[in-house]
Amino acid sequence: MFKQKICCIGAGYVGGPTMAMIAEKCPHIRVEVVDINEKRIAAWNSDTLPVYEPGLQEIVERNRGKNLFFGTGVEDAIREADIIFVSVGTPTKTYGHGAGRAADLCYIESAARMIARCAKGPKIIVEKSTIPVRTAEAIKTILKANSEEGQFQVLSNPEFLAEGTAIDDLLEPDRILIGGEHTEGGQAALQVLVDVYANWVPRERILTTNLWSSELSKLVANAFLAQRISSINSISALCERTEADVDEVARAIGADSRIGPKFLKASVGFGGSCFQKDLLNLVYLCEHFGLPEVAEYWDQVVKINDWQKSRFAQNIVQALFNTVIGKKVAILGYAFKKDTNDTREAAAGYVCRDLLEEGAQLSIYDPQVKLEGVTQHLLYLGVSQETIDKQVHIAESAEESTKEAHAAAILTEWDEFKTLDWASIYQQMLKPALLFDGRNILPVEETRKLGFDFRPIGKG
Ligand code: NAD
Ligand code: UGA
Repeated sequence: MFKQKICCIGAGYVGGPTMAMIAEKCPHIRVEVVDINEKRIAAWNSDTLPVYEPGLQEIVERNRGKNLFFGTGVEDAIREADIIFVSVGTPTKTYGHGAGRAADLCYIESAARMIARCAKGPKIIVEKSTIPVRTAEAIKTILKANSEEGQFQVLSNPEFLAEGTAIDDLLEPDRILIGGEHTEGGQAALQVLVDVYANWVPRERILTTNLWSSELSKLVANAFLAQRISSINSISALCERTEADVDEVARAIGADSRIGPKFLKASVGFGGSCFQKDLLNLVYLCEHFGLPEVAEYWDQVVKINDWQKSRFAQNIVQALFNTVIGKKVAILGYAFKKDTNDTREAAAGYVCRDLLEEGAQLSIYDPQVKLEGVTQHLLYLGVSQETIDKQVHIAESAEESTKEAHAAAILTEWDEFKTLDWASIYQQMLKPALLFDGRNILPVEETRKLGFDFRPIGKG
């Protein structure tokens, strides 16, 4: 009944939403998303999806059980599929050679081996995960060693969605990038994938390249985006010394069409699962290919980001007369950006860790991240369970979090923080009431008029 069958290995932040969109736009294709994590798959099949994304729930509910399926039967799904997307994690390696920088490809390798073991007949394998340039070579080697000549074609199709806007990004992508080999088989496979996307993406936005350009472009895109944030954040520090206003500077330079206005919002630092990981991976690759100057250039983007996060925490401590022991600090927002429940590499975590080390009592409120998410992330950052039990409280609202606090810090730009009753929050905080805006979402003059000692980023 279905013209084509797609399977996606990995039901995470990328696999789930991208496959839901393909199912929505291609009713003639059967899409199965598989994962070894049973809990995650159960959540995809429930009313509470494991990924929070505006608009996602509706799309999943419309298509689930029709042409969109979530399951744990990875091997069966591989056997059935014509096209197999690999969308597993590629975190920074934590052990052995390249630890702390290189991408850990163990999940990619295990997926490739599983495909090699189970697949019968011709299959198109699509690298959806972000990987180092030339990873397709390794995948091809594993597949080739276990198959008939020409059974597998490997394509690179990196994903550019951003969390929080995943559905809009998938619906109207700036571009779809597909890399394939310049062989007859490679080009035929590439056309099959182009045809899938052409069901809703205008043909001129579907870019095709060779495999290596496609793999590398993904890392470079993230590196350029992160570089813009580190650039403006570095200037935010200069603004604080010179009474220039970083938002005014961003507006002024962004008006130049060659620079453009996007991604120039100064902040407490970028977070998310990918920017740092992909930058570190790029740095590692440059070193590997004997380009230490290039490696150092991109490494600086990460260093400025680390500095911005620790500078923010230090500013809070300094403003509280150099000691926060036993003082209540309200943390407003923990997710790495608004409209997501994702805490991976969230700047908030680093700020909280530094404040906990200084002995602060934290009262954390985030609309989507609760005790389990905060605890997991703080443990990952090396904070002990004992410290979390003693010094971290999860509040149910911003009002509860700020009650009798010495200071409050906005660390995620959730819309609801813009419209809080800041006058009454001021009333219930201890005085002087310090308010740090790590996202520059509140108006400076009005907030100061309410009585706050208000400290935004990059404003003298
Ligand atoms: P994730 O950790 O949310 O999901 C990966 C899933 O793969 C996990 O659920 C894991 O259980 C599963 N998995 C691992 N090995 C498996 C195997 N052998 N068989 C079946 N399932 C397996 O990761 P993510 O955020 O979706 O990212 C996936 C990839 O996409 C990464 O390479 C990332 O860099 C890239 N990416 C992520 C984003 C994003 O916004 N998160 C955007 C673009 C690209
Ligand atoms: C980013 C890219 O935008 C996506 O194109 C890419 O697909 C994805 O990484 C990935 O490869 O995982 P994401 O991390 O989800 O997406 O979110 P962004 O909107 O890029 O924000 C990343 C971080 O930068 C957030 O912490 C955000 O608050 C911060 N940021 C963003 C700023 O501090 N200032 C800005 O001007 C923009």
